[in-house]
Amino acid sequence: MNNINSAATTSRLLKNYARYEIDFSHGEGVFLYDRDGNKYLDFLCGIAVTSFGHNHPVIKAAVKEQIDKLWHLSNLFYSHLQEELAFKLASQTGHDFVFFSNSGTEANEAAIKFTRKWGDGRYGIISTQKSFHGRTMGAVSASGQEKLWKGFYPLLEGFNYVPFNDLAAMKAAVNENTAAIIIEPIQGEGGVAVATDEYLNGLRELCDEHNILLIFDEIQCGMGRTGKLYAHQWAGVVPDILSSAKGIANGLPLGATFCNKPVGEVITPGSHGTTFGGNPVALASALAVVDLLTPEMLAKISNDGIYLMDLLKNLNSEYIAEIRGKGLMIGVEFVKAINPKDVLKKLMERKILSTVAGDTVLRILPPFIAEKEHFDFYAENLDAVLKEF
Ligand SMILES: Cc1ncc(COP(=O)(O)O)c(C=O)c1O
Repeated sequence: MNNINSAATTSRLLKNYARYEIDFSHGEGVFLYDRDGNKYLDFLCGIAVTSFGHNHPVIKAAVKEQIDKLWHLSNLFYSHLQEELAFKLASQTGHDFVFFSNSGTEANEAAIKFTRKWGDGRYGIISTQKSFHGRTMGAVSASGQEKLWKGFYPLLEGFNYVPFNDLAAMKAAVNENTAAIIIEPIQGEGGVAVATDEYLNGLRELCDEHNILLIFDEIQCGMGRTGKLYAHQWAGVVPDILSSAKGIANGLPLGATFCNKPVGEVITPGSHGTTFGGNPVALASALAVVDLLTPEMLAKISNDGIYLMDLLKNLNSEYIAEIRGKGLMIGVEFVKAINPKDVLKKLMERKILSTVAGDTVLRILPPFIAEKEHFDFYAENLDAVLKEF
């Protein structure tokens, strides 16, 4: 038996999360197991992190091998693992440089600092409403959600927020202080909103016209989640700065900030750094992840996304207002009468995990190794749950 109930009164953990009362002990493939032996289908993946599921044999072997060799190295030294991962990723995205950190927030914090250094006095960054870029003061300031700011004012100077997917609003917001535009090609926390190809192309043109940096935050939608290594690749647009994390090392802490030459060249020794960033064990895991993201795997993700999306569309529920997403990043928007948190709770009672996004959206983030039977099981149970309302 687990001891969640007794821990509730003695817990010394900060109350910054409303935690579910499930205590997991281990995971295998697409399933998580709690300490009472219950088995859960994991269509949450640590919020788009454990994309290759739990206890993946190839990733585990790479991590174990690295732990036996070396598990920390100061960034004062050459790192063949960092070099190899930077080369493998950047040669697929078209960037010149990569900086490794430990998290998505840090990857974006680096993006903000790089922008300021490159901007040489210009420091304005235009972001979008409902965006989420992380929890440090820079990343919170970049995020277009008031609920993240409350209690933490003053924010970092220079940010403003325009509606997502609205090129005219972005154009109107540019001024002589603007140094960058930051967007998520698919807003995750904001409700699984997909940027159109026209929007991404329009932003690229706008940035080129005004000598502004284009920053794509692909912390949630990147690393294969949409069926391309990075979601923006569907639109054929290359950002000046790209931030990545979450699924990059399948659960070990790693963040990455990619940039092109003009940005990278202003970052000189001492201008930015990290003690733990680019950790050898996380890198070994990430190298295994990158090797697993073969063209066949990316095609599977894309096809599975279409399969699951079709299943969900066929539910024909009166409570579903819209289904959107790309690949295995899917959002089900409910009509106002239904709170997605209630749907989530009912799914959890059926031993199925996913999460919410915004106030009205159920967010489904299955692992890439899921098979048709798992998608069928998810859709059947969502159908049954919706019929209970
Ligand atoms: C788009 C996006 N950016 C940044 C972050 C922050 O990443 P982390 O929690 O690793 O700091 C997240 C996390 O949810 C995210 O979804």
